[in-house]
Amino acid sequence: MQHNKVLILDFGSQYTQLIARRVRELNIYCEIHPFNKVPLEIDDYKAVILSGSPVSVRSKEALHPDLSQIKGVKPLLGVCYGAQYLAHFFEGEVAESNTREYGRANLSFVKSDDSFFEHINEGSQVWMSHSDTIKSLPKGSELLASTHDVKNAAYKINDELTYAIQFHPEVYHTTDGKQLLENFLVNIAKVEQDWTPQSFVEETVEELKAKLGDDKVVLGLSGGVDSSVAAMLLHKAIGKNLYCIFVNNGLLRKNEFTDVLKQYEGMGLNVKGVDASARFLDALAGKSDPEEKRKTIGRVFIEVFDDEATSIQDVKWLAQGTIYPDVIESVSATGGPSATIKSHHNVGGLPDFMKLKIVEPLKALFKDEVRRVGASMDMDAKLLGRHPFPGPGLAIRILGDLTAEKVRILQEVDAIFINNLRSWNLYDKVWQAGAMLLPVNSVGVMGDERTYEKCVALRAVESTDGMTADWVNLPYEFLQKTSNEIINKVKGVNRVVYDISSKPPATIEWE
Ligand code: XMP
Repeated sequence: MQHNKVLILDFGSQYTQLIARRVRELNIYCEIHPFNKVPLEIDDYKAVILSGSPVSVRSKEALHPDLSQIKGVKPLLGVCYGAQYLAHFFEGEVAESNTREYGRANLSFVKSDDSFFEHINEGSQVWMSHSDTIKSLPKGSELLASTHDVKNAAYKINDELTYAIQFHPEVYHTTDGKQLLENFLVNIAKVEQDWTPQSFVEETVEELKAKLGDDKVVLGLSGGVDSSVAAMLLHKAIGKNLYCIFVNNGLLRKNEFTDVLKQYEGMGLNVKGVDASARFLDALAGKSDPEEKRKTIGRVFIEVFDDEATSIQDVKWLAQGTIYPDVIESVSATGGPSATIKSHHNVGGLPDFMKLKIVEPLKALFKDEVRRVGASMDMDAKLLGRHPFPGPGLAIRILGDLTAEKVRILQEVDAIFINNLRSWNLYDKVWQAGAMLLPVNSVGVMGDERTYEKCVALRAVESTDGMTADWVNLPYEFLQKTSNEIINKVKGVNRVVYDISSKPPATIEWE
C-alpha cells in the first residue's frame, strides 16, 4: 500500500498496541515491529515512535535498537523508555528515581510555543508510569515541559526532529495525548492523514483482484464481524469466485442460523449454509469436560468444513478473518523478542482445506477499524455491532453434558435476555452478554405445585478485548423483568441468578 507509514518500535510495553491504535485513529497507517527488527525498507516510513518498556535502560537487559538510519534522519518520538533510551545512550543521564512515578501529573511548559504543544493548555493532565528518571538531557537538547515531580518530562534534540516524553500519550488518562501525537506526526513529521476506511477498501479490493485473479477462494463465515467484513471485501474483489460456508453446529443462538444466512444472502454473498447440528450433537453426547467439548467441536467443524471445501472444484485459497492483534510480533517482558505469530502452515496430517494458500484481508486492522471498514461498505450496523460469541457457542454455556433439550432451553433464555437488552437500549453498552445453564436443579413453586427445575445464570460484561472484564451494573428493573419473563416463558427453568464476578479472577464464560 502506498500510504504514509509510521513505524513503532516495540520494547515490550503493555501500551504499545494502544500507541498504534491512537495513531490509526488519526487516519495514519502504522506498524509495530520488535525493537531489534527495524524493517529493511525503513525508507518507506515517515516517522518512528519508540515505545515504553518494563526494562530499565540502566540494566544489563537494556534493549538496544539500531537507530543508525533513524535518529537524526527521520522524525523520532521517544515515549517513556524511548525517552530514557535517547537520554541515557546519547550523553544524558538516567537514574533510579526516589519514588516510583505512577499516575496523573500536570504539564508545566518550559517552551510553550513549540509546535509540539499546539492546542494544548498549560496544566494538561498526563499519565506517568516509570521507576527511572531522566537526570540530564542528551547532548544538544532543549527542555520543553516539566511536571511537579518530573523535571525532564518532555524535551527535543535540537537540529533533529527528535522529541521525547516521559509520560504516555497513548493512554486515556493523558487528556491531550491524541493531540500530542497529532502535533508530532502531522505538524512536525509532516505525515499525511491518508489512512481511511474508504481508502483501505479501495486499495484492498484492488490488491485482492491482482492477487487472486480468477482463482476460487473458500471462507468460513461465523456470523461474527471479522469473517463477515472479510467476506464483503473479497466479494467486492472476486464476486462469485468467493465460496462462503456457514456451518450450523446446533450451538448457535436461537434462529441465528436462518437469520444470519438470510442476511448474508441479502448482501449478495455466494454462501452455503450447512446444517450439521445433528452431527455435532451426536459427537458431543455424553461429554461433559469443557476441553473435551471444545476439542470435539473443533474436530467436527474441520470435518464438515473439509467436506464442503473440497467439494468446490479447483479451489486455491482459504480466506481468514485474522486481525492485526493476532499477527503483531510483540516483545516479551523479559527482553527476548518472542514471536507470537500463529503459524497456519504446519506439517503433515492437515485437512485438505488447510493446505490451501491463505488470504487474510483484515490482517492490518484492529477490531474497531474492522467495524469502520464494514460501515464504509454500508454493512448492516446490527451485524457490525454484534457482541463476540465463542466458537464452541452454547456448548460452553451449558455446564456439563449436552442434550438437544438443554440447548433448546438455553436458546430460549438467551433470546429473552438479548432481546430485552436491545429493547432497553442496553445492548450497545455491554461488551458481551449471555446465559449459562447450570447443572443443578432447584426447588420452586408454581401455582400450587412444587417444581424441581433448572437454574440459569445471566452474565453481562464490559471489556475492551476480553482479557479483563467487569460485570455490568444492569438496572434492577431490567433484571426483574427479564427474570420474570424467563421463568414464565421457558419451560424447565424456575430460577435465574445474575453473575457479579469480574475477570480476573472469574472468566467470562463459565467453562
Ligand atoms: P473467557 O471465558 O476466557 O473468554 O474469559 C474471553 C473471550 O473469549 C471467548 N471464548 C472463546 N472463543 N472459542 C472462542 O472462539 C473458545 O473456546 C472460547 N472460550 C472463550 C469468550 O466468549 C470471551 O469473549
